[in-house]
This record gives sequence, structure tokens and C-alpha cells, in this order.
Amino acid sequence: MKNKKVNITEVVLRDGQQSLIATRMRLSDMTPILSKLDNIGFSSLEMWGGATYDCCLRFLNEDPWERLKVIKSNVIKTKLQMLLRGKNLVGYKKYDDTVTDLFIKKSSENGIDIFRIFDALNDINNIIHSIECANKYNANSQGTISYTTSPIHNEKYWLKLAKDIEDAGAKSLGIKDMAGLLKPKTAYELIKKLKKNLNIPIHLHTHATTGLSDATNFKAYEAGVDNIDTSISSFSNLYAHTATESLISMIYDDNDNPFDMNELAEISDYFQNIRNKYSQYEGSMKGVDIKMLINQVPGGMLSILEKQLLDLNKSDKLDDLVKEIPRIRKDVGYIPLVTPASQIIGAQALLNILDNERYKNLNKEFIDLVKGDYGKIPGDVDKALLKIVDAKSYDQTIESKSVDQARLDFKDFCKENNLENLHKSDTDLLNFILFTKESKDFYTKSSVVSMNDLIELQEGFGIYMSD
Ligand code: CO
Repeated sequence: MKNKKVNITEVVLRDGQQSLIATRMRLSDMTPILSKLDNIGFSSLEMWGGATYDCCLRFLNEDPWERLKVIKSNVIKTKLQMLLRGKNLVGYKKYDDTVTDLFIKKSSENGIDIFRIFDALNDINNIIHSIECANKYNANSQGTISYTTSPIHNEKYWLKLAKDIEDAGAKSLGIKDMAGLLKPKTAYELIKKLKKNLNIPIHLHTHATTGLSDATNFKAYEAGVDNIDTSISSFSNLYAHTATESLISMIYDDNDNPFDMNELAEISDYFQNIRNKYSQYEGSMKGVDIKMLINQVPGGMLSILEKQLLDLNKSDKLDDLVKEIPRIRKDVGYIPLVTPASQIIGAQALLNILDNERYKNLNKEFIDLVKGDYGKIPGDVDKALLKIVDAKSYDQTIESKSVDQARLDFKDFCKENNLENLHKSDTDLLNFILFTKESKDFYTKSSVVSMNDLIELQEGFGIYMSD
């Protein structure tokens, strides 16, 4: 069987380094290799997203917009791609449509060509506006499925969601399997059907966590998928992705390979040296994490919870915790474990275990999630849990700052800090709206790392970003 060519997106600059070294790679470690990456012939380079944006301001003392501009100026031929959390943009709460519009406008102006837009709940209403904005600013709007497995997430569910995404005007469809749950045969069947029912190109993004990704990507290729995400070999596998060179070798013979394997080897060597510099941020997993297939708990999520239990001297509770997460997930209608839902459910599971009683105490975010403030829940919420939430919840208005209000605050902030030239820039304003505290530190600092930063740094905060 001879398939047509499949496009490849290289993810080392975003998800590869996010999955393996907690998103700590600095721009200065990327720039020397950008023109080589640009010359390979990738369909796009994924290089920006929620965790990269967050870590730039929180840990690296970098302006994320500067990173975008520098990468754009070095990458001439290849499209740049970012991951966007729908209404949550690159943050953790819902933002006004005006903020979304401004964010996508500035991102597009500064170089993003493809916006991969997803929602943790797969609520189409949380991604429609971002799709429209990307279209408005002539970018490729990639409406995305957050893949998971559960009694309600069947082929029919995915086909309907994919059709809704196409009908919403998306220019391409992304299948985002952040936990490596998509099995090869399922991928083959799903993509065959999607190709039959949809007119837009289909992109597959899966992780190697469970050891399935090589086979899944290859079966997806056989089913006619249009684009596959991979990470250069020295930043591949474990929590990350199939190696770029491996996938290319599976697809092409030596005599028809359009990719220069020697150039790829040089790029891999370059990144191997970079990876060594960040070894303190590596996760503990050595091979594959098969627990994912049983409990659906992403490896990164598990390692941070493990650390939290250890700090509390409650390591003996780990088994209970691992079992509690899928129970909660069932209670809340099988929400996929992806940012921000994975953090919210993980925190509630920890509370339930430490209290020795389910739902004795509730996180505010968990209440919001159950009440539907994050969007429509895919399945049914457990009735007993709904009762508890109603009894415990309080009157709360979702904090939704209008741009005008933020602009006002920003102006005050600039004045107070003798930074009055800043409030003229829309990208500075966006930093301030999206990461207020981190931006305050960033614009006024001092590159001194605070005590809190050090604690979060040790806990591998970035690894926990399960997207
Ligand atoms: Co990913």
C-alpha cells in the first residue's frame, strides 16, 4: 500500500520540552537551531501555548511576545503553530470575548499561523469564538477534540463533535490525545470515518506515555490522516511524543525520503546538549506508564500528586488517591483530564483522601466546574454530588474583567511603578490581563527568584500542565 505524503508538525519547541523538562527551555537555547528547523520541510513548528506563555513570565523572565517575534524572524518558510485553551486562552479562567479577539489579533500579527483551539470539556461553545477570531485574522483555525475514553466517549460522540467543529468554520480538525489513550486500531477506525464525513484536513497529536504512540501514528497514517505531530528524537518518548525521525523512517524508504536524515540527526544532537542542561526538571518515569490505561491518570499529574503526598507524610495514601481520581471523574460526567480540569479534579481527589471522607470540603474551582461555569459537562453529574455542591456553594460572580477595566488597572499599575511607557502596548496589556501577578513581577523586577517560585520549581509545576 502506498499512501500520499503526510505532513509533519515538529513540537520540540513547545510540547516536547513541556513534557520532558517542565517547559523550562529558554529562547536563547532555541534561536541557534531555528533556521535548520525551518529548512527541514515541516508543515509547522509548534512553539507557543499556555504553559510556555506562563513559564516565560513565571520562571524565565522572558516576555512571551518577544519569544514569538524572535522565532518568527528566524523561521521564514515554516508555519508557526500555537495551542490555545479556548475561552481560557493561555490561562486558567474564562476571559471576555474582547480579550480573546485582542489576543488572537496580536498573536496573528506577530506570527502565529495556526491556532490549535481546544476545550477541556469539549464544549463547542467554548471554542467557537476563538475559531471565528482566527478566521477573521486570516489564520488557520484548528478546532480540536480533547480525546479521552469513558462510557460516553464513543465514536458517535467524536464524529458529532468533529462535525460541529467543521460547521463552526474551523479550517482543520485536531485530535488531541494528551494522555496517550488513543489505541492504534481505534485511531484507524476513527480517522477513516472522519475522513469520510469531513472535508477539512485532520491533524493527530498523541503522546508516547502509554507506549502506543508509534503504532497509533502509523495506523493513523494508513487511515489517511493529513498531519502528524512528532518531536525530534532527543526530545521524544516518555511523557512526550513519537520521535520525528522514527515516524519518517516508518513512512519512507531510503530512496523516496523527502527529509534529510543527516540534518535531522544534527538537530537532534543539538537538542541533546540542551536537554542535558535542564536535567533537574526531568520526570521520574523510565519506560511507559501503563497505569494511564487503567486509571486514566496522566503521568505528569500523578507525579505531582505523589510529591504532594510525600510532603504531607502521607505516601501510604497514594493507592487511594489513584483510585479516587477516576471515581471523581465519573461523578463529574467523565470530563477529560486536561488543563485546567486535570488540576481541579486532582486537587479535589487529594482533599477527599486527606479528609478521609468524600466531598467533606470542596475546592472553589471544583464547585464552579460542577455547576457548569467552565462549560457544559459531557456526561451526567452524580445526583448526590450535585446536592452537596448546591448546599455548599455560595453566591459567586465569575470574575470577568472587561478590557476597559483591565486597561484602567494597567494604567494605574504603570503609574505606580514608573512604567508609564508600558500601557501603550497591547501585548504588555495582554500579559497583564492573563498573568497579572507574574507580569507585575516581570515588569518591575529584579530577576531575583522568590521563595514561592523555588517551591513550585522543585515541584515540577510545568510537568503537571497536562496539555
Ligand atoms: Co500534548
